[in-house]
Amino acid sequence: MLMSLPPRILLSPPDVGRAERESLLDAFDTNWISTAGPAIEEFEASMAAFIGRPCVAVASGTSGLHLALRLAGVAAGDVVLCQTFTFAASANPILYERAEPWFLDSEHRTWNLDPNALEDAIRALARIGRRPRALIAVHLYGMPAEIHSIRDLCDRHGVALIEDAAESLGSTVGAEPTARSRNPELEIPTGEGTQPESARQTGGFGLAGVFSFNGNKIITTAGGGMIAVDSAAAAARLRKWSTQSREPAAHYEHAELGYNYRLSNLLAALGCAQLASLPNKILRRREIFRRYREAFQGFQGVEFQPEEEGSRSNRWLTALYLDPNEWGNCRDALITRLAARGIESRPLWKPMHRQPLYLNSRHFGSSLSEALFAGGICLPSGSSLREVEQQEICEEIAGFLRETSSRDRSRAGHLPMNDQRERSTKRRVSTPHARAAISNPSVTRPNGNPVGTNRQSHFEFAPGGETPWSASANT
Ligand SMILES: Cc1ncc(COP(=O)(O)O)c(C=O)c1O
Repeated sequence: MLMSLPPRILLSPPDVGRAERESLLDAFDTNWISTAGPAIEEFEASMAAFIGRPCVAVASGTSGLHLALRLAGVAAGDVVLCQTFTFAASANPILYERAEPWFLDSEHRTWNLDPNALEDAIRALARIGRRPRALIAVHLYGMPAEIHSIRDLCDRHGVALIEDAAESLGSTVGAEPTARSRNPELEIPTGEGTQPESARQTGGFGLAGVFSFNGNKIITTAGGGMIAVDSAAAAARLRKWSTQSREPAAHYEHAELGYNYRLSNLLAALGCAQLASLPNKILRRREIFRRYREAFQGFQGVEFQPEEEGSRSNRWLTALYLDPNEWGNCRDALITRLAARGIESRPLWKPMHRQPLYLNSRHFGSSLSEALFAGGICLPSGSSLREVEQQEICEEIAGFLRETSSRDRSRAGHLPMNDQRERSTKRRVSTPHARAAISNPSVTRPNGNPVGTNRQSHFEFAPGGETPWSASANT
């Protein structure tokens, strides 16, 4: 059996330098170390200029999502729709408010939320005279979701759209195709003013867009987050809530529930220095993605998270999928093999509707998220990854794939991505009733428990015993 070494090459370590050190020390030396100070204002103003919306700095992406739900008016018993293919922090704030999460599966064009599943969930609620209070759509691994269609549906049905842009800072939607086709890899999204007319930052579409600056994100403040909102009034409310909802009185007066969710000036100072290097970091991660794609283009059944025409991902993490028709169940063996060489990698997110915490929640859409979880892997993508390290990773993976393809592979029980696509295409041309049934088999069983109906997995993905990723938290 291969033994794992402590990882030498990490998935996405912090990339900080002299500028961060100086900025941090400046905040320290001027004694602005707590939750007020010039760096917070500067960080918010720089983010606002970049996103094109008022921004509020908070202690984490999770606290930002929680406040965004409050802004949307979510209360106990409300239904909140949420992408199922994501990290738990997207969904957990729904439970903080004692609301009910309904999970939506992904489409194959971006691996993010499927607008068809969204429509089906809205219809299912309408049949019982209800509507979802809010939707949390995620730009996963930095890839912009089909946000125009999603927003249209939300607008049409009065659903508050919250973008979980925790992983997608700097990813844009709607860039001009002509500009992209000139040199798609080397174009850097650099914020409003400098982008093509039609390009807009993820996180700038809904009622609120939430970013994370935890240690593994494209820029980091050690821990922290930012909420971009559609009005100055909304920003003022969020700022108040994040600082215990103090009323303007010398004594401590409180009319509303508040939270201790503000970012510290010390960490905001880090954020200011990091934000200045964002364009370069995006360029680095896109280059890393391009090299991976080139390294494995000769292998059948190795698919990368697709980028839609007009969108540009920051490629926070390179996410790829090993088609089980070609590769059988080899994903976990690959992770183990890389770990044995000191290279960290990780399965793609386990869908929320398969998590024990959320097993009783409703789920709409295909089972694409399960296919991605079963056969997907993310690879080291940090902006400080050296070319020689990436070469080593690519050689290791290529060697593994060559060995695997020459062995007899088990293919039983798999539903490859192509079948998922076929299903998705079929849905589009079928009758509304059939569409709803595919999206949510429970609609064919009027009195049945909607949950358990599509609990039957097509995949065998649970590896036995210790796994190389089980020890580390988050991504
Ligand atoms: C998709 C997604 N949503 C939300 C979060 C939560 O952000 P934070 O860790 O800053 O609370 C993260 C990152 O951790 C994330 O990856």
